[in-house]
Amino acid sequence: MNVMPRSRVDEEEVDRSTYYTNASKDLTIGIVKVVTFLLIFAAGVVLGLTASAHVTRHFTSSHADLFFPAHNFPAPVPEQEGCLTINNCDEEDCLSIKSFVNPSHLTHSMSDDELFWRASMVPKKDAYPYDRVPKVAFMFLTRGPLPLLPLWEKFFHGHERLFSIYVHALPGYELNVSKTSAFYGRQIPSQDVQWGTSTLTDGERRLLANALLDFSNERFILLSESCIPIFDFTTVYNYLIGSSHSFVDSYDDPSRYGRGRYSRHMYPDIKLPQWRKGAQWFEMNRTLAVNIISDSEYYSLFRKYCRPSCYPDEHYLPTYINMFHGRMNANRTVTWVDWSRGGPHPATYGRYDVTKEFILSIRNNGTICSYNSKPTSVCYLFARKFSPSALEPLLNISSTVMKF
Ligand SMILES: *[C@@H]1O[C@H](CO)[C@@H](O)[C@H](O)[C@H]1NC(C)=O
Ligand SMILES: *[C@@H]1O[C@H](CO)[C@@H](O)[C@H](O)[C@H]1NC(C)=O
Ligand SMILES: *[C@@H]1O[C@H](CO)[C@@H](O)[C@H](O)[C@H]1NC(C)=O
Ligand SMILES: *[C@@H]1O[C@H](CO)[C@@H](O)[C@H](O)[C@H]1NC(C)=O
Ligand SMILES: *[C@@H]1O[C@H](CO)[C@@H](O)[C@H](O)[C@H]1NC(C)=O
Repeated sequence: MNVMPRSRVDEEEVDRSTYYTNASKDLTIGIVKVVTFLLIFAAGVVLGLTASAHVTRHFTSSHADLFFPAHNFPAPVPEQEGCLTINNCDEEDCLSIKSFVNPSHLTHSMSDDELFWRASMVPKKDAYPYDRVPKVAFMFLTRGPLPLLPLWEKFFHGHERLFSIYVHALPGYELNVSKTSAFYGRQIPSQDVQWGTSTLTDGERRLLANALLDFSNERFILLSESCIPIFDFTTVYNYLIGSSHSFVDSYDDPSRYGRGRYSRHMYPDIKLPQWRKGAQWFEMNRTLAVNIISDSEYYSLFRKYCRPSCYPDEHYLPTYINMFHGRMNANRTVTWVDWSRGGPHPATYGRYDVTKEFILSIRNNGTICSYNSKPTSVCYLFARKFSPSALEPLLNISSTVMKF
């Protein structure tokens, strides 16, 4: 008789107690959860705050910016091999468009593969989200010193917004120039270059790739330590920026110094009638430059089969451009050189050769060229080869003859 109510009560009690037990368990768990969460959150905040300064050393600033607004926290210190820079993001936004489109440091730790891949990137969008003033990249391929540097500094003076300089010297050589020089801090990470081998074309491509990292560079000119400008900066700039063609020397030479250097191993990728020759000192626009550093298929053929007495620097660009980009190439160079004396090397001019008349005769040597499909007497903007002793007379006549 009693069993039922008791049991009912029991059941009820049990139920209730179960209820209470469950409720208090839930409450306890809830409190524990909340406390734990609060503890973890607090610990997280503390850890985050204290660690952010250290952590950002090991991550790029972009990671830091995902979690914390950059302006509230200490500046990340980007780690760059061989280049210790302390960027303060309070003053310089590390993810700014400026640092992306115009990297201020040329030092980097990228391998050629990494560099060429990065440099091959082309924006899909037409318009630029910043005021893009097209620049000319002057790329100096040199063993070491630039003896004619004072002449170039005079040439560049006052045009800082319109050019970038890149110097590829032999590894270990450090260009020693004052901080006010246009050449200061313009050396790129380099590798050994052996004249006549594909390491020379590697150097040219390395210069192009480094210069492509600056999105404002629109024209790219390769120069050597013995090159000089023969017109003032404004004339050179307008000529190059305004040209609808690139200036890569490219011609068919049927002799053994031309077609004679073709290797049958390149067939059928490259056929004999496509084979071209040309001077190494090129000038090209950005689109062509991206294409050049992106090509590995044809370049590897030259590396493999164009060996002495085939010289990749005289055949790779002329042939590759003839095959794929010939229509927009002027097929001529803008760098004057004198082969008239014969022999394997062009004439070199020194102290006693440099006169007003001589430079004027290079500026207009009687040849008529085509510029944007119209005839012009201005065929050359630069000239080689000039020895270090030519510097003083060149400086003397630069303002009267070259107008800089
Ligand atoms: C760099 O040039 C300056 C001034 O011309 C000279 O004093 C200094 O010794 C040079 N440094 C090196 C490493 O050659
Ligand atoms: C340069 O040569 C190419 C053939 O590779 C030709 O199509 C092009 O018209 C030439 N350029 C000029 C300016 O004549
Ligand atoms: C740059 O050169 C490429 C290939 O020669 C050509 O197709 C392109 O139209 C040129 N671009 C400009 C902006 O001149
Ligand atoms: C002008 O200079 C070029 C390059 O050296 C040469 O090929 C050409 O023959 C010269 N023209 C004259 C008329 O001397
Ligand atoms: C350069 O000009 C200076 C001053 O006009 C003169 O003394 C010097 O001899 C000139 N040098 C050369 C190589 O012409």
